[in-house]
Amino acid sequence: MLFGTGLAALAVTGDADADTAQAPQAMPPQAGDLLVQATGPQAGQPIGLPLFKTPNTLIQAWAKDPTSGVVRNGSRLNRVLLVKIDTAAMDDATRKRSAEGVVAYSDFCTHAGCWIETYHADNGVILCHCHGSAFDPTHGANVTGGPARAPLASLSLKIVDSHLVAAGPFDGRLGIPQT
Ligand code: FES
Repeated sequence: MLFGTGLAALAVTGDADADTAQAPQAMPPQAGDLLVQATGPQAGQPIGLPLFKTPNTLIQAWAKDPTSGVVRNGSRLNRVLLVKIDTAAMDDATRKRSAEGVVAYSDFCTHAGCWIETYHADNGVILCHCHGSAFDPTHGANVTGGPARAPLASLSLKIVDSHLVAAGPFDGRLGIPQT
């Protein structure tokens, strides 16, 4: 995996206007994109609520243009993480972005760019294994511990035909903050 100073240059916004010149596979998730599994034996398959039945489930996903079939895996910044949490614990903004209790955030740690793989449901924390940064999925993935200084960018969700779909672009800055 890539870490460290080289990734500092990767910080970009989720602003769709900034993405118009990018190749489709390098563009961040767009409204209407289907989310598909990024890893494991079901890689490439759409994601439905039954996949979250096991406690501590964190699903890593890519966005897929449902029309062209292009999977937007051309940038490490584009990977999405999904967890299912109690809607009663969410703040209003997080609840508005969620779908049936599922919330989506950038999977790219804002500390040094590791992909995040762990969710601890018992203490409600998304945890980066690299240096221990912790993010609160109920409150916009705000940092609650470790060296990260910025929350993970949020992605609004909706459910279409029983599968999770992006309802808009990332809200917030992707990558490692420069200051
Ligand atoms: S990359 Fe350092 S805590 Fe995530």
